[in-house]
Amino acid sequence: MITVNDLQFEKFISEAEIKKCVAEVAAKINHDYAGKVPVLIGILNGAFVFAADLVRELTIDHEIHFAKFSSYEGTETTGQVKQLIGLPQGLEGRNVIIVEDIIDTGTTMYNLLPQIQAQGVRSVEICTMLLKPGKLQVPLNIKYCAKEIPNAFILGYGLDYDNLGRGYKDIYVVKS
Ligand code: IMP
Ligand code: MG
Repeated sequence: MITVNDLQFEKFISEAEIKKCVAEVAAKINHDYAGKVPVLIGILNGAFVFAADLVRELTIDHEIHFAKFSSYEGTETTGQVKQLIGLPQGLEGRNVIIVEDIIDTGTTMYNLLPQIQAQGVRSVEICTMLLKPGKLQVPLNIKYCAKEIPNAFILGYGLDYDNLGRGYKDIYVVKS
């Protein structure tokens, strides 16, 4: 068990299980994008750990870039996604894969997809480490998902609570 600020968390997904899930999703991408040189776009901050592990399981040629968005101000969602680090340019005709840590309501991805499509990409798909299907509020086609989880707050493996806890190798869930 760990304590981060005012909350207690217990181990939820082990490092070994994460590694297995990442390898499985990478194998699908290796298969689907053979010969296509996809452009991966990791969404900061949370996806930096997943993106690093994912690319090291890829056996196909690929590019990796990062972008940074924020849909929250304090604890309120603004419904608008602010760009803190913009998308890479020159995506026309490319096969893009968005690499995200976790999809919760889906707002971030829902707002981002049209911005990428507007660059005239050949294709764009989502690859997320985690998905809370019970929280999704918008229609999203999520082609690659390493693991589905229930509606609970988690941290570790890039995910934070008040910017803490991103470095844990396992994923933890808040204790109820
Ligand atoms: P969405 O736009 O509601 O799908 O929110 C996605 C973003 O919220 C993720 O990229 C995370 O940064 C953050 N998030 C959602 N659920 C959790 C969680 O359980 N722990 C930590 N961060 C989360
Ligand atoms: Mg995120």
